[in-house]
Amino acid sequence: MANRRKFLTSSAAGLALLAARPGAAAPAGPRANARGKALVISTWDDGIAANQAAWAILKKGGAALDAAEAGVMVTEASQNCCVGLGGNPDRDGIVTLDACIMDHQFNCGSVAALERIKHPISVARRVMEKTPHVMLVGEGAQQFAVAQGFPLEPAQLSPDAEKAYKEWLKTSQYKPIINIENSGNRKTGPVGGPQNHDTIALLAFDATGNLSGSCTTSGMGFKMRGRVGDSPIIGAGLYVDNEVGAAAATGQGEDVIRMAGAHTVVELMRQGRTPQAACRAAVERVARIKGAAAKDIQVCFIAVNNQGQHGAFALQKGFSYAVCNAADQRQLFKSEYLLK
Ligand code: GLY
Repeated sequence: MANRRKFLTSSAAGLALLAARPGAAAPAGPRANARGKALVISTWDDGIAANQAAWAILKKGGAALDAAEAGVMVTEASQNCCVGLGGNPDRDGIVTLDACIMDHQFNCGSVAALERIKHPISVARRVMEKTPHVMLVGEGAQQFAVAQGFPLEPAQLSPDAEKAYKEWLKTSQYKPIINIENSGNRKTGPVGGPQNHDTIALLAFDATGNLSGSCTTSGMGFKMRGRVGDSPIIGAGLYVDNEVGAAAATGQGEDVIRMAGAHTVVELMRQGRTPQAACRAAVERVARIKGAAAKDIQVCFIAVNNQGQHGAFALQKGFSYAVCNAADQRQLFKSEYLLK
């Protein structure tokens, strides 16, 4: 797969797309200029597989919501450090999963600290569709999942996660790892492999011009028991406003939550910024809030506006993301970043 990857520059992609019209009201029917511009963008460079699963739905004229769910299910089912039941556990040795989903009509659902369920994103969707609530957590989320027919998986770590956990126990230092996705290989330490991000967030723009998004993670490895990051929080890890655009985050969840990251990016697009500029302004806000401590964290945003123009920006070097559209289903972009 590696030799099929090619990195493009965001600006090159931007040139190929029409100028944004953020803030334009959504027409009642399909957007005239949306057809043919369907796309998927995800925070995961191994998200090519996720994007392709989402694309399989979009290319047949399917709904962005279905694409957003199907895409990240691929990552949830794969064995990796940071998403799904193969992910690294909390400091008590238990894998807890966070996920959320949002459609083009402000419908949203979320689960946090969910244990032993393979596809938290699908449980989040059920919360959205089958309950009067937005968010279920912990034992209640698991009860709901089981009642909905989701099988309870064995309470065991994957071999890689077990090895990483044992390694971590040698020091038991709770220290967020910057760029976990790029800092090594879990087989040799408690970090992710070079193609792993801490979260997969995926935004889908369908042929009718509707947007939806999904976000799913096992959260920060070796976190305190009960810790919840940004990924299941609507407005932090993910936000969709069909009249403007959609945005999602990866990186240090605490610092995304404190500035309502994804919602901030969408509001910046509403004010007229391109997705790229909105992501950059949001990252700059994180940097302002963190001050000197910004150098110790990673935060990244992806965004797509209601015309299908996309962009991303990161605090630190090393964030890459995947894009899929009719022209090319396997695009990879190296994100621009703030701290040079
Ligand atoms: N961004 C994922 C987390 O902080 O849990």
